[in-house]
Amino acid sequence: MKNGTLWTDTDGKGIQAHGGCILEHEGTYYWYGENKDTETQNRRVDFVGFSCYSSRDLIRWENHGLVLSSVREEGHDLSPASVGERPTVLYNAKTGKFVMWFHQDSADYTRARVGLAVSDSPAGPFLYQGSQRPGNHDSRDMAAFIDENGKAYLFCSSDWNATMRIWELDGTYTCLTGNGKEILIDQAREAPAVFFQDGKYFMVSSGCTGWKPNTMLFAAADSMFGSWRLIDDPCTGPNARTTFGAQSAAVFQAKGQWYLLLDHWNPDNLRESGYSILPVICRDGSLTIP
Ligand code: DGJ
Repeated sequence: MKNGTLWTDTDGKGIQAHGGCILEHEGTYYWYGENKDTETQNRRVDFVGFSCYSSRDLIRWENHGLVLSSVREEGHDLSPASVGERPTVLYNAKTGKFVMWFHQDSADYTRARVGLAVSDSPAGPFLYQGSQRPGNHDSRDMAAFIDENGKAYLFCSSDWNATMRIWELDGTYTCLTGNGKEILIDQAREAPAVFFQDGKYFMVSSGCTGWKPNTMLFAAADSMFGSWRLIDDPCTGPNARTTFGAQSAAVFQAKGQWYLLLDHWNPDNLRESGYSILPVICRDGSLTIP
C-alpha cells in the first residue's frame, strides 16, 4: 500500500471507497466510501453507490460490495444523475444501529443536502431514509462525529462553503435536534474530519478548490459549541502546502494512534483516485502530520 496510489482489495481489484471514513467495530475496521467505478465525464461520475470494505490490519481489505446502491429512477435522491459523497458511518451503542450520513446533491451541487441511511449490520445493507437541508441551510462536504459522552454531531460546509455549521443529533443519531452553531465563518473550508483528544476538539479541513489539492488547516475548540479557531497547517515536509497532493477524508484511531485517510483525486479518471493514510501527532494542543 504505497501512499498516493489506488490500493487494491483482497481480490486484487482497485478499492472504490473515495471520500470515505473508517469505523472500528469489534476489532474490525470498516471502510465506507464512494464507489466511482464508472466513466468520468466532465470531471464527474454518475452516482454508483457507497462501498464497504473490512480489514483487521488496515492493509488487507475485503470487499463487501455496495452497501447503498444508486436507484434507477429519475428524480430519486440516489439516481445515477445525482451526487452522493463522503458517507460517514456512526455506530449507535444504544440502538445497535449503524447510521450513515452523507452529502446528497444534484450534479450541479445546488441541491446541497444531507442524506441518511441505516443498517443493522456494519457491512450493510443500508436502508435509505431520505435527505434534508439541516436547519434549512445548504450542506455540502460533511463529517459526523461522536463525542465522549455519546452525543453525535454533523459538521457541514454551508452558505456555499463559506461557513461551517455544527448540528447536534438526537440519541438515535438519525434526527437533528435543531441545536446548531455557525463556526469558521467566511473561512471557506471543506472536507472536515473531527476528533477529540486531551480535552480539545480538533478538525482538519481543506480549502475549496474543487478536485485540486490545497493547504490543509486544523482548527481547535475547547467545547463543541465553543469558539473554533483555525490554527495552522499540520502537514510538514515536501508538498505540505498542497496536503501532499491530497484532501482530507476522515480521521480514525487504531491502537491508540490517530490517522488521517486522504484522497488523491484524479479528476479526469475519478475511479483511479488514490489514497493515503498518515499518522496525526497530537501534542500540546497542536497537530502535526509528519
Ligand atoms: C471538493 C469536495 O471536497 C469533494 O468531495 C467533491 O465535492 C469535489 N469538491 C467536487 O469538485
